[in-house]
Amino acid sequence: MAITINEVMTTSPVMPVMVINRLELAVPLAHALVAGGLKVLEITLRTAVALDAIRRIKAEVPDAIVGAGTIINTRTLDQALEAGAEFIVSPGITDNLLTAALRSNVPILPGVVTPGEVMHLLDNGITAMKFFPAEAAGGIPMLKAIGAPLPQVTFCPTGGVTPKNAPDYLALSNVACVGGSWMAPAELVDAGDWAEITRRAAEACALKK
Ligand code: 3PG
Repeated sequence: MAITINEVMTTSPVMPVMVINRLELAVPLAHALVAGGLKVLEITLRTAVALDAIRRIKAEVPDAIVGAGTIINTRTLDQALEAGAEFIVSPGITDNLLTAALRSNVPILPGVVTPGEVMHLLDNGITAMKFFPAEAAGGIPMLKAIGAPLPQVTFCPTGGVTPKNAPDYLALSNVACVGGSWMAPAELVDAGDWAEITRRAAEACALKK
């Protein structure tokens, strides 16, 4: 059964944002995150192997729910869908991308910063959004301020979220989950330190929404 964007945002309090540089590390990395309890994974399309990483994780880590991040246009949307991405995440939104994503029916978590961007998505029936880049764009005070006139929107703040500030984001009524890369930073992935990645994933999973 296809996942809904609501399930994407509420399955775990933290969505790992993954940058995979070496294809052979994709499956062990996904296993390490899932072992820690994080099943919803965002694979960013920022590396040459990202699409193959999505394919492999989908084939070999059945418990993972695999999304594609860094969807910036219809070309990357098509590539992600062809690779089997179960949901997509974008840093921002364009009319072309929005139209194509809505037509495809794939669950989408589009990036926004401003009330105007939020209103544009609301006009198109979207109420789940990524707040990106969260810390640089005003962080918690900005989310509180947007939530006053636009309380019907649920956010996944991403960008500069850390284990330290994540609980404060998660305490907001208009935040369902946060995104972040701290569970699987490049140095741990490249070193194959799966135990530490699983530990960080379990710690992230234990954060309360
Ligand atoms: C990114 O752009 O890589 C994501 O927003 C993750 O940001 P982070 O590294 O600050 O968690």
